[in-house]
Amino acid sequence: MLPQLLPEVIAVRDDVVAWRRHLHAHPELGFQEHETARYVAQVLQEIGGLEITHPTATSVLARLRSTRPGRTIALRADMDALPVAEETGLPFSSQVPGVMHACGHDGHTAILLGAARLLSARREDLGGEVRFIFQHSEELAPGGAQELVAAGVMDGVEMVAGEHLRSLLEVGQVALSSGPVQAAADEFRITIKGEGGHAAYPQLAVDSVAIGAEVVSALQHVVSRQTDPFDTLVLSVTMFHAGTAENVIPPVAEMVGTVRAFREELRRQTEGRMDKIIRGITQGHGAEYSFQYQYGYQPVVNDERVTGIVREALTRSLGEGSVIPATPTMGAEDFSAYQKMAPGVFFYVGAGNRAKGLTRQHHHGLFAIDEDCLGIGVQAMVATAEGLLSADPD
Ligand code: NI
Repeated sequence: MLPQLLPEVIAVRDDVVAWRRHLHAHPELGFQEHETARYVAQVLQEIGGLEITHPTATSVLARLRSTRPGRTIALRADMDALPVAEETGLPFSSQVPGVMHACGHDGHTAILLGAARLLSARREDLGGEVRFIFQHSEELAPGGAQELVAAGVMDGVEMVAGEHLRSLLEVGQVALSSGPVQAAADEFRITIKGEGGHAAYPQLAVDSVAIGAEVVSALQHVVSRQTDPFDTLVLSVTMFHAGTAENVIPPVAEMVGTVRAFREELRRQTEGRMDKIIRGITQGHGAEYSFQYQYGYQPVVNDERVTGIVREALTRSLGEGSVIPATPTMGAEDFSAYQKMAPGVFFYVGAGNRAKGLTRQHHHGLFAIDEDCLGIGVQAMVATAEGLLSADPD
């Protein structure tokens, strides 16, 4: 059963759907959201009562200041699309070949616009300040969040909240938990330098492919043999490039991949353990190597108190049965950059619908949402803002 929507949410719902469809048809990749930012700023202008700025070239910040004193909170939506070709055949499909809103960020943006309209209409009752952060580039490292933090959007903010649509969660459900909910995401690049030669005379070459293959399998031992089974770690080699012909032993093999973990110390240890294994194998075979490990997004860790406030607000607004605990995932999110500045919560809004066959994973060309999630998302964001603004001081 879907939660009961407030009359004011029902009144804004058609506009939210229209905004989302417009954004969906005109997706832009990370750091290129020029048209998206222009469109968002225009809608915010029409809403009225907001101070609108562009902290970076493709982001938008809207500040809603009440005349009554109170605390400052921030709500965040991300706006970027993905290099994915849309296959849904929907009437409002992407008009940009090879680019698609395949993660639902079009929905996040439209939801936050809807929340801005409703909260702006009640600004005198609210007290304090609500900052609406329309962030560029969540999908593309180094991510827009840290740029916005550097630009000062979090200065003076006491609590922050964000949401993500989730197609694997049924529409009508909202999931949140305190503690770690999304992992840190690091990247690595390995280059094996052997000695090329004729494939028929392997004894005269140092085979970068055979050595690289050993490295790929041995790296899994970092997870399965060297890490506490109760500690969470994923290590995936996702690219392996080598070779030009069937009769040539290639001199160089290159590998790229990702490491996901929740603990900082485990990330450092994993980097060291990987280096040791790569060194041992390449040295044993007379090859050389280079290894670069790049630390990426921090894990998303929800603050216990803020999560409690928001859980209570969501339960009051959407009903007891709609709010469930969130299971942590090894996916990553640069929302963590805001949580470094202020305690915050990141929660999930169900967007899937098994009965309608809407169960595709995010980042897939057939990804689609049940648009009923949009009104629910608006109501959830409004309840979150009101809950955070009115919570007792700690
Ligand atoms: Ni996403």
